[in-house]
Amino acid sequence: MKSEGSPPPQLLVLHGPNLNLLGLREPGIYGSQTLDFINRSLHELAGELGCILTIIQSNHEGVMVDAIHAALGAAKGILINPAAYTHTSVAIRDALAAVALPTVEVHLSNIHRREEFRQRSYIAPVAVGQISGFGADGYLLGLRALFTIAIKRLSEEPGCGT
Ligand code: DQA
Repeated sequence: MKSEGSPPPQLLVLHGPNLNLLGLREPGIYGSQTLDFINRSLHELAGELGCILTIIQSNHEGVMVDAIHAALGAAKGILINPAAYTHTSVAIRDALAAVALPTVEVHLSNIHRREEFRQRSYIAPVAVGQISGFGADGYLLGLRALFTIAIKRLSEEPGCGT
């Protein structure tokens, strides 16, 4: 599905702490693909779908909160792997709730099969849904899901096609 007739929607992709080390970092859990590879695959899929991505990785909670705030008015949705902040960050959850953009939560590993402390997500209740356990493919699944939601919302906006 392409977004025909209107400018391509902008989507924010936000990667949390330690994801810059993908490829090196515990490959048995997170796979051997680098973040750069994942980002290139995301840009390629975005080109096929017809959307534009801003991709940010940060190891800092406040930077992630600022990026979420900056998405307001600029992006139509957020694809986020909050990494360790999934399990700790009320601030990131509150930022997502505040901007109220459709959000898809992604994890490379299946967080529900891992340590007990990883099984709780502060983000899931403010996300449309969560994709967990499909490795790097999870980002592509998440982008497809987010794009579909963003296009649907755009078509429902007043004045669109009426
Ligand atoms: C992760 C899972 C988190 O528990 C962990 O802290 C990460 C990565 C994942 O993608 O599987 O850094 O979000």
